[in-house]
Amino acid sequence: MKFVFFGAPGAGKGTMAARAAEAFGLPHISTGEIFRGAMREGTPLGLRVKAVIESGGLVSDELTIGLVRERLAKPDAAKGWLLDGFPRTMAQAEALVSFCPEDHVIDLEVSDAKVLERLSGRRMCRGCGRSFHTVFMPPKKPDVCDDCGGELYIRNDDSVDSVRTRLENYRVQTSPLEAYYRKRGTLVPVDGEGSADEVWSVLRGVMERLIAGEKA
Ligand code: AP5
Repeated sequence: MKFVFFGAPGAGKGTMAARAAEAFGLPHISTGEIFRGAMREGTPLGLRVKAVIESGGLVSDELTIGLVRERLAKPDAAKGWLLDGFPRTMAQAEALVSFCPEDHVIDLEVSDAKVLERLSGRRMCRGCGRSFHTVFMPPKKPDVCDDCGGELYIRNDDSVDSVRTRLENYRVQTSPLEAYYRKRGTLVPVDGEGSADEVWSVLRGVMERLIAGEKA
C-alpha cells in the first residue's frame, strides 16, 4: 500500500514514518533525508541543493520529482511505500498521481507552538539520520545515536530564521494540498499533538484498518 506522510515541518512525519516502516515492512522514502545524505557525502546533488535547504527554501520541482520517480521505480517499492516530505507543491502532487498515485495521505495535525517546541530540541544522527529530541526523545547517551553510535547534530535548517521560512513555505505552497487530497478522497487526518507513543498508538491502528480494508 502507498502512503504519503503529510504535515508541517516538525509535525513528526519522519519519526512516525520510521515506526510505520518497521511495523508494516514498507520502505521509508524521505526526500529530506535523501538530500541530507547527498549533502553529507558531498555528491553533485548535495552540492546543488545545500544552499536552498539550509536557508529553509524548497528544492525545485523538476529535480525533486525526477528523484522520487526514480526511487519509486526501484524493486523494493513495488509492493508499496511510505513517502515522507513529498509531495509539498501542487506540481509534485499532480506528478505523483500521474506516475504512481497514493492510496492514503496521513495528515499529522499539530499546532505551530508544538512545531517550534519540537524543532528547537531536535538532534539528528550523522550516521543513520535518526532523529531524537533533547526532552521528548533523548538518546540514552548524550549526543550519541542509540542505533548506530553516530554523532548527533543540530540541522542547519533548524535555526530560527530557516524554521520561519519553512513554516511560511508550508503555509503557502504545501498546506493547499490538504484540500486537493480531501477532494481525491485520500486524506486521513491524525491528531499529532500527543507524545510520540500516543500518536503512534493511534496511527498504527489507523494504518492497520486501512491496510485490512484494502485487502478485504
Ligand atoms: P524534510 O526533512 O522533509 O523537512 P520537513 O518537512 O521540514 O520536516 P522535518 O524533517 O523538519 O520534520 P518531521 O515532520 O519529519 O518531524 P520529525 O519526525 O523529525 O525536508 C528538509 C528540506 O529538504 C526542506 O526544507 C526542503 O528544502 C527540502 N525538501 C525535502 N523534500 C522536498 C520536496 N518534496 N520538495 C522540495 N524540497 C524538499 O520530528 C521533529 C522533532 O520532534 C524530532 O526531534 C522528534 O524527535 C520530535 N518528535 C516527533 N514526534 C513527536 C511527538 N509526537 N512528541 C514529541 N516529540 C516528537
